[in-house]
Amino acid sequence: MPPKTVAAALRVARDLGLDRFDAELLLTECSGITRSRLIARPDTALAPDSARRFLDWVGRRGSGEPVAYLIGRKGFMTIELEVTPAVLVPRPETELLVTTALELAAPDNARVIDLGTGSGAIALAVAVARPDWHLVATDLSPAALAVARRNIERIAPGRVELICSDWFAELGSRTFDLILANPPYIAIGDPDLDADVARHEPAEALFAPRNGQGALTVLAQAAPLRLRPGGWILLEHGHRQGPEVRQMLAAAHLEAIHTLTDAANLERVTIARRPA
Ligand SMILES: C[S@@+](CC[C@H](N)C(=O)[O-])C[C@H]1O[C@@H](n2cnc3c(N)ncnc32)[C@H](O)[C@@H]1O
Repeated sequence: MPPKTVAAALRVARDLGLDRFDAELLLTECSGITRSRLIARPDTALAPDSARRFLDWVGRRGSGEPVAYLIGRKGFMTIELEVTPAVLVPRPETELLVTTALELAAPDNARVIDLGTGSGAIALAVAVARPDWHLVATDLSPAALAVARRNIERIAPGRVELICSDWFAELGSRTFDLILANPPYIAIGDPDLDADVARHEPAEALFAPRNGQGALTVLAQAAPLRLRPGGWILLEHGHRQGPEVRQMLAAAHLEAIHTLTDAANLERVTIARRPA
C-alpha cells in the first residue's frame, strides 16, 4: 500500500535504513513538494504516482544505487551535471583538481585537456571559471561521451571540444598548457572498494591494470611530449598512490612535483611541470 502522506513515506524510508537527507531529496524530486514543506507539514498528501515512484527509488537506493543516478544529476563546483550509469558520479575530491588547475600560473587563452572526462565535470567546471581557456575533453566510452555532449550543450555550448580517444591516441601532435585527468586508478579486485560503487558505477571508470597504476603510468609517460614548456599536468589518484605517481612524473623528467591532500587529509592530486 503506497504511503498517503509525506510523513508516512519518510517512515518507510527510515525503516529501510535510508539516510534522512537522501530520503528527503528523493521525495522532493519525485513529488515536487519542497524540502521545507516536507519538514514543516508532514501531513501533506502524497499523490499515488509520486508515492509509487518514491517506493521504487527507496528500494533501489537501499540496494546501493547512487542518489545521483536516481535523480539524474549531481552538483559539482558551481555547475549541475546530468549523470547516468554510463558515467562516474563526480566526486567532491575531484574539485581539488579543478581548484588547483585554476590557481596555477597558466597563460591567458591556455590550451587545456581533460582526459577521461566522463560527465564532462572537470572540463566544464574549468570552462565556466575561465572563459578565455580552450578546452578539449576526451573519453573512450561512447556512452559517457553522449552524456558529456549533453552537459556541454546545456552548460557551456561550444566551449569544449569533445573527442573519442584512447588517452592521447586521436590527438595528433597537439600540446597543452594544462593536462588534467582523473583516470581509473583502482586495482582490479581491490578489497577496500565499496561494493555499491563496484556494482553500480562503470568498470571502465574505476579499474586500471597493473595494480591500478596502468592509466596513471600512460599519462605520466606521455606528459613530456604533450605539455608545452612550463605547462602543468595534474593527476588525481588513490590516496595510497602518491609515492608511485611522484616517481612516474620524476621519471618523465618533470619538475615541481607536489602532492595535494583532500578534505580528509589524504594524498589525492599530484602536479608537475615541464621545464620552461
Ligand atoms: C574516474 S572516471 C573520471 C570521470 C570524470 N573525469 C570525473 O572526474 O568525474 C575515468 C574516466 O576515464 C575514462 N577512460 C577509461 N579508460 C580510458 C582510455 N583508455 N582513454 C580515455 N578515457 C578512458 C572512463 O570512461 C571514465 O569516464
